[in-house]
Amino acid sequence: MANYVDEIKRRRTFAIISHPDAGKTTLTEKLLLYGGAISLAGSVKGKKTAKHAVSDWMEIEKQRGISVTSSVMQFNYQGFCINILDTPGHQDFSEDTYRTLMAADSAVMVIDASKGVEKQTRKLFKVCTLRNIPIFTFINKMDREARNPFDLLEEIEKELGIRTFPMNWPIGSGKEFKGVYDRNKKEIIAFKANNGQHEVEATKVDINDERLNALIGEDHRNTLVDDILLLDGAGYDFDLEAVRNGKLSPVFFGSALTNFGVEPFLEEFLNMTTSPLPRNADVGLIDPFQNEFSAFVFKIQANMNKAHRDRIAFMRICSGKFDKSLDVYHVQGGKKMKLLQPQQLMAQDREIIDEAYAGDIIGVFDPGIFSIGDTLCSPSNKFSFGGIPTFAPEHFSRVQQVDTMKRKQFVKGMSQIAQEGAIQIFQELGGGMEEVIVGVVGTLQFDVLEYRLKNEYNVDIRMEGLPYQYIRWIENSGLDPKTLNLTSDTKRIQDLRGHHLLIFANEWSIRWAQEHNEGLVLAEFGKG
Ligand code: G4P
Repeated sequence: MANYVDEIKRRRTFAIISHPDAGKTTLTEKLLLYGGAISLAGSVKGKKTAKHAVSDWMEIEKQRGISVTSSVMQFNYQGFCINILDTPGHQDFSEDTYRTLMAADSAVMVIDASKGVEKQTRKLFKVCTLRNIPIFTFINKMDREARNPFDLLEEIEKELGIRTFPMNWPIGSGKEFKGVYDRNKKEIIAFKANNGQHEVEATKVDINDERLNALIGEDHRNTLVDDILLLDGAGYDFDLEAVRNGKLSPVFFGSALTNFGVEPFLEEFLNMTTSPLPRNADVGLIDPFQNEFSAFVFKIQANMNKAHRDRIAFMRICSGKFDKSLDVYHVQGGKKMKLLQPQQLMAQDREIIDEAYAGDIIGVFDPGIFSIGDTLCSPSNKFSFGGIPTFAPEHFSRVQQVDTMKRKQFVKGMSQIAQEGAIQIFQELGGGMEEVIVGVVGTLQFDVLEYRLKNEYNVDIRMEGLPYQYIRWIENSGLDPKTLNLTSDTKRIQDLRGHHLLIFANEWSIRWAQEHNEGLVLAEFGKG
């Protein structure tokens, strides 16, 4: 049995980000196939069959259940132990999607080659850059008509503000997709459509090989030679340090569906990434290889059984080894405890585990004691990890209870759902809890809130959509928001901890606020 240091060394923990439909699920599935974690394509998510009607809670639960089981997947490949964190998208897009990125050591960004950088990718990317984690780009669907690869790179660099380094270079696209040129090995990997079959053959041929004209055609060959000359001359140099600091993104062109370019991508990815890195705590950096266990909570999932109001808390192990007999210290609760029913996810199966290591994600039974960002550590070495930022909601509603006699249940339900991190609660300046403003990242959360308050807390609410889209935390301490010069459609609010915020209907009003209030400091993320 390998010792815990070897176990940690072989860990790689990354998140996959993309705009819906770029191919995140397909790529994940192919990676799991390589790892032998699943044997059949199509088993990661029954997405098509699981489309839900938002009015039906059972359907929401089913969907959430699916997103739980597929939220973390572990598999082994060539001696590495790989944890993939799925970032829920589509209607499930919520603050959880952002928080998941706090638990990853690197991110893989999947981009649709015909579409380029899309809205959701842009938002997720921004969160990745908060921690400077390495970002790898997989430009997918090359078997379909794609945009010019130079344009795609330029768009990534301009829109996301990261340098790019293409590891391979596509030869044509769509019906004319002939394969890629591997810039490191200086060879062609040819793509051959296989009688309408999805799987393809990859043939390695040197760029100077005489067979190349026959394989990709003279025109493609000429274009490729020109492109490579241009890339080598005008592109950025490869710099592993810059990759590891999130300043340079290695780019791979491929086609997840036809399994083209996935394995070379995985191999290069494993070469360039590192085992879990030290994390910031109030006592300084915590070394993942230290003997003592530590972890932080990044996601709380409400239990699907409404008879029990218990939950599952997902935590990222940051150091040492977890053992189910271990006594751990819950810093925020101030208590020594054992973690109950620790579980890990292997593709579609959830299993109770005996041990886990730094880099791994475990889910534990939560009787309602954990909050997002909490630290678990050894009782003999107490410290607290830096909090998880509060991400900006984009949809706001005014929420009131219908029956004012049920104030207690209303406050309890709202607070518990907010503690899970599903919603954020704000108030009018100096306002109370009888009427609050709820902010969410994805609109599905409004339906979930309404349904859960009714079913778990027996409270009916009235919800009125508000026309705000942007929120900013006021960073200047002691500033009275009433003294600010703002557009008439900007609203001053506060959160439950008394921090002052502004909500805006459009970006123009944000600029107005900044231009008309000297020294005003507005933050896009709230402190954790
Ligand atoms: P997502 O998780 O990012 O939302 O994307 P997903 O993998 O579900 O892929 C979205 C659609 O794009 C799927 O088609 C999928 O088959 C297709 N796709 C993914 N990768 C490639 C690729 O490399 N080439 C081509 N041509 N298509 C790709 P769908 O019709 O929506 O679903 P399905 O019925 O095929 O599952």
